[in-house]
Amino acid sequence: MRLVLVGPPGAGKGTQAEIIAARLGVPKISTGDIFRANVDGGTPLGLKAKEYMEAGELVPDEVTNEMVADRLAQDDAKDGFLLDGYPRNTEQAKVLDGILTEAGVILDVAVELVASDEEVVRRLSGRRVSKSTGKVYHLEFDPPADPDSDDLYQRSDDKPETVKHRLEVYAEQTAPLVGYYEQQGKLVEIDAIGEVAEVTERALAAIGAPE
Ligand code: AP5
Ligand code: MG
Repeated sequence: MRLVLVGPPGAGKGTQAEIIAARLGVPKISTGDIFRANVDGGTPLGLKAKEYMEAGELVPDEVTNEMVADRLAQDDAKDGFLLDGYPRNTEQAKVLDGILTEAGVILDVAVELVASDEEVVRRLSGRRVSKSTGKVYHLEFDPPADPDSDDLYQRSDDKPETVKHRLEVYAEQTAPLVGYYEQQGKLVEIDAIGEVAEVTERALAAIGAPE
C-alpha cells in the first residue's frame, strides 16, 4: 500500500506513521526526520535545510523533492510506503504523482489527521524526544519515566513563536493539498482527537487495512 499522511504540526503524524507503517509492513518515510538527521550530522543536505527548519518554513521544493525521489528509489519502498510530512504543498504532490507514474504505480490513499490549533499547540508544547532512542513522549499524554532526565530534549522548532508560524505555513501552503487529494478521490479524513490507539484504529478502518 502507498499512503501519505497529511495534517498540521503536532496532529500526531509521526506517532501514527510509526504504528500504521508497522501494521501494513511498509517503510515509514518522514521527511522531517530525514532532515533532522542530516542537520545533526552536519551533511550538505542538513546545511541546506537547517535555516528553514529553525524558522518553521518549508525547505525549498527542489531540495525536498530530490531527497524523496532518492528515498523512494530504494528497494524497501518498491512495494509500498507511508510518507509522513510529504508532500507539503501541491507542487510536491504533483512531483510525487510524477515519480509514481514513472514507476508504473499509484498512490492509494491520503490520510488527513484533523486536529484543532488548540490541541496541536498543547501536543507540541509538551513533546519531548529521547536523545538515545529517538522515542517521542508527551509530558502529559505519554510521560517519560523521568521528565527531568538529561536524555530528553525539546525540538528547537517547538518554541511557541515557531509553532505559530508553522501553523500559518500549514494553513497557507499545506492545507490546499486536502482539496488536491479530494479531487483525486483519495482523501480520507480522520478525527485525530482521542487516544493514540483510537486514532490508529480509525485510520486503519478507513483505509481498509487487513485485521
Ligand atoms: P516535521 O518534522 O514533519 O514537522 P511537522 O509537520 O510540523 O509535524 P510534527 O513532527 O511537529 O508533528 P507530528 O504531526 O508528527 O506529531 P507527533 O506524532 O510528533 O517537519 C519539520 C520541518 O522540516 C518543517 O517545518 C520543514 O522545515 C521541514 N520539512 C519537513 N517535510 C518537509 C517537506 N515535505 N517540504 C518542505 N519542508 C519540509 O505528536 C506530537 C506530540 O503529541 C507528541 O508529544 C506525541 O506524543 C503527542 N501525541 C500524538 N498523538 C497523540 C494523541 N492521540 N493524544 C495525545 N497526544 C498525542
Ligand atoms: Mg512528525
